[in-house]
Amino acid sequence: MGRIICAGLGPGDPDLMSVKARRAVEAATTVAYFRKAGRAGQARRIVQGLLPPGAIELAMEYPVTTELAFDSAAYNAALARFYDDWANRLRQLSRTCDIVVLCEGDPFFYGSFMHLYSRLRADVPIEIIPGITGMSGCWTATGEPITWGDDVLAVLMGTLSEADLVAQMSRADALVVMKTGRNMPKIRRALERAGRLDAAWLVEAGTMPAQRVARLAEVNPDQCPYFSIVLVHGQGRRPEIAE
Ligand SMILES: C[S@@+](CC[C@H](N)C(=O)[O-])C[C@H]1O[C@@H](n2cnc3c(N)ncnc32)[C@H](O)[C@@H]1O
Repeated sequence: MGRIICAGLGPGDPDLMSVKARRAVEAATTVAYFRKAGRAGQARRIVQGLLPPGAIELAMEYPVTTELAFDSAAYNAALARFYDDWANRLRQLSRTCDIVVLCEGDPFFYGSFMHLYSRLRADVPIEIIPGITGMSGCWTATGEPITWGDDVLAVLMGTLSEADLVAQMSRADALVVMKTGRNMPKIRRALERAGRLDAAWLVEAGTMPAQRVARLAEVNPDQCPYFSIVLVHGQGRRPEIAE
């Protein structure tokens, strides 16, 4: 009986992977990773050059990404079939070997692997290796701390409705907005309505070679890549710096 090891790979820079995740990747005989059809896949890109020669690669290609509305019955049915199918395939395979599932960031933080985990955890031994989240890599890229003192940090998905975004953005001290991409015009409008736009930053491809850090107000919201995060830094309680 083998097992499944889900390795959280960190935000993008391979040097930000934990020692434990790197050891799992370098010893892998079979790896599986999610990707959009026709793309290399973010998790696979992070381990470029680290996999042993001859490692078997299983690319788990999403059947839909943005073609259907994410809250439609058709989208949910397609993804349920996809996760059921891959859970069955990994369950079968785990009877004969270990499988390392590659995950960007931390697997338990809005990660697709969670859908396999909930289907497999009852009958397959699974180890999860935590990782540095993408948001952590992104706020570090801005050079500004994200939270001070008793600041409340809200982590929001760009898929929320504009009204929900405005409500949460108005309440919290510090903000992280993920799943940006096509949702960016809505996110920008919500930040403006909550009076937070001027303090907002956009980090694209945080910790990766293509990293870009910009004031959100100065960015064209119609050209926002999926791998980007919006940040508003908290300004909370802290001791004054003595002159
Ligand atoms: C499905 S979530 C995966 C989160 C991941 N498990 C983590 O721990 O960060 C994908 C979203 O994470 C954000 N993201 C993750 N890593 C990023 C990075 N290095 N730079 C910019 N955005 C990132 C983007 O907003 C993207 O839409």
